[in-house]
Amino acid sequence: MAAKMRAHHFAQMKAEGTPITMLTAYDAVTAKIFDEAGVDMILVGDSYGNTMLGYSSTIPVTLSDMLVAIGAVARSTSHTFVVGDMPFGSYEESPAQAVRTAIALVKAGAAAVKLEGGVRRAEAIKAISDAGIPVVGHVGFTPQAENALGGHRVQGRGAGAEQLRADAFAVQEAGAIAVVFEMVPEPIATALTAELAIPTIGIGAGSGTDGQVLVWTDMAGMGDWQPKFAKRFGEVGAELRRATDAYLAAVRGREFPDAEHSFAQ
Ligand code: KIV
Repeated sequence: MAAKMRAHHFAQMKAEGTPITMLTAYDAVTAKIFDEAGVDMILVGDSYGNTMLGYSSTIPVTLSDMLVAIGAVARSTSHTFVVGDMPFGSYEESPAQAVRTAIALVKAGAAAVKLEGGVRRAEAIKAISDAGIPVVGHVGFTPQAENALGGHRVQGRGAGAEQLRADAFAVQEAGAIAVVFEMVPEPIATALTAELAIPTIGIGAGSGTDGQVLVWTDMAGMGDWQPKFAKRFGEVGAELRRATDAYLAAVRGREFPDAEHSFAQ
């Protein structure tokens, strides 16, 4: 297994033009598979809420939820760089609240934290970075602000391009080690990637960013809803259904357990 990924490796990868790979994970089983495959960064995203906890958005996810998921991922990985997402309500009140939350995520096993917002979160990013915790920013479409943004909409179009630029540079100047661009037009993401010193990780931001991130259930074909930007690289959901149907049929037909899977004495 390759060496453990550290924050400085991502700056090197940007300088060399090596694409950074990132996937979400929320549990030990999937995180171990991604770690063994050599994923550079695992994001324990607050998409945990929609993908695993049955919520329709990320908004209800709590700090306790995130601490459980981060702990499971951190304990089952050795190579990847684990980024813990700061859930809605855990950092907006003050930089002091943001630092407290970031410390809790690091104690649970995260190597870095991610929070949403650019200019309006610069103070929080600076405070967390000053506390010695690497921060990944997140600009463009920020799911925790979906009510304010009017739903899932591409950000940075037209006059929004200037706001996106200001947000990206605010995140960098506040000390972030990388920034996620979510649902922004490819030409803007590509241009900002060339201008920024820190690596950019795209999700729905085209192919010109320094890295890519996908929610693993979208990537592997586990859910019903598929965002336009998320390609299915497998059909894990269909395979799980096939295995479940086979198990039910075997139990109902008294074919399982057979002699091979029973203790004769
Ligand atoms: O929570 C998450 O999965 C995220 C990604 C969409 C970047 O923030």
